[in-house]
Amino acid sequence: MSFHFEGLLEVNGMLTKRPATKILVDGGDPEETLRIKSLIGFVDGQTTNPSLIAKNPEIQQLLASGHRLSTQEEKDEYKKIVQSISPLVGDAGVSIEVFADLNTTAEEMLAQGQEMFSWIPNAYVKYPCTHEGLRAADMSVRKSIRVNMTLCFSQEQAAAVYAATQGSKEPVYVSPFVGRLDDQGEDGMDLVRNIKKMYERSDGHVHVLAASIRTINHLLCSFFLGAELVTVPSKVLQEWAAAGFPMPDQDFVYKGVDAKGRPLKPIPYKDLDLKLPWDSFDLTHELTTKGIQKFVADYQSTLRRSA
Ligand code: G3P
Repeated sequence: MSFHFEGLLEVNGMLTKRPATKILVDGGDPEETLRIKSLIGFVDGQTTNPSLIAKNPEIQQLLASGHRLSTQEEKDEYKKIVQSISPLVGDAGVSIEVFADLNTTAEEMLAQGQEMFSWIPNAYVKYPCTHEGLRAADMSVRKSIRVNMTLCFSQEQAAAVYAATQGSKEPVYVSPFVGRLDDQGEDGMDLVRNIKKMYERSDGHVHVLAASIRTINHLLCSFFLGAELVTVPSKVLQEWAAAGFPMPDQDFVYKGVDAKGRPLKPIPYKDLDLKLPWDSFDLTHELTTKGIQKFVADYQSTLRRSA
């Protein structure tokens, strides 16, 4: 396993090591991004999603005052939020997620994606790792729209992301959700490890963005596995800073355990052929379906009934 550092980083007058893995803030509040930037010294990028946008303090304030948004107002708020975040981050950009339920077609996702991509110069459009999401990604990269494929829970989905986006001029992100696999007793870090291993024999156009990070150990393991990017809630970044920015050493050993300290079930590696057509891979995963349903519920909680 090769783990390397990018260089030295000065934080509050102290030199610390900066990982090669790009660090993104997983959130929906520009003030929070700014706080993390001054705490750590840099923020490479940001990921947002409908649940995180629903938690934005301004939106929460509107909801607390009894206001519910129209779909247009929700979109305008989302645009305002990412436009504030956009100049704060580095070259990993800001990921903006389309509003999709289980029936949204690829064409509908693409229409949203095209609009969202025009909001800021450093946008990545997030589509779910479903058949329609993959089809939207395929069409998007042909139009030079950068994409981040979210709600990835299987190696098959990551293989399909690779195959569907081949030829993309820009890096494509795939986001394996570590914490949500852990939640159901499977070792989410294994999925990151397996995807990285599968991509060893690839053209490198898909970058692994470890997501649903819940602990410092997830963060360190993402560095250790050489994930190109990791998106991290501010709470975990604050803990990392408070602990003095620890880094994994060459002998780093990750032990996946649940909340009660019981070992998580390993996820075995599969030998998949990345040259196969993307729609030949089994894209179904219960957690992808549940994830879409949760995003829809959180999005709708901000909307007027008639919206
Ligand atoms: O980056 C994905 C993230 O926002 C989901 O995290 O904690 O809801 O599984 P979580």
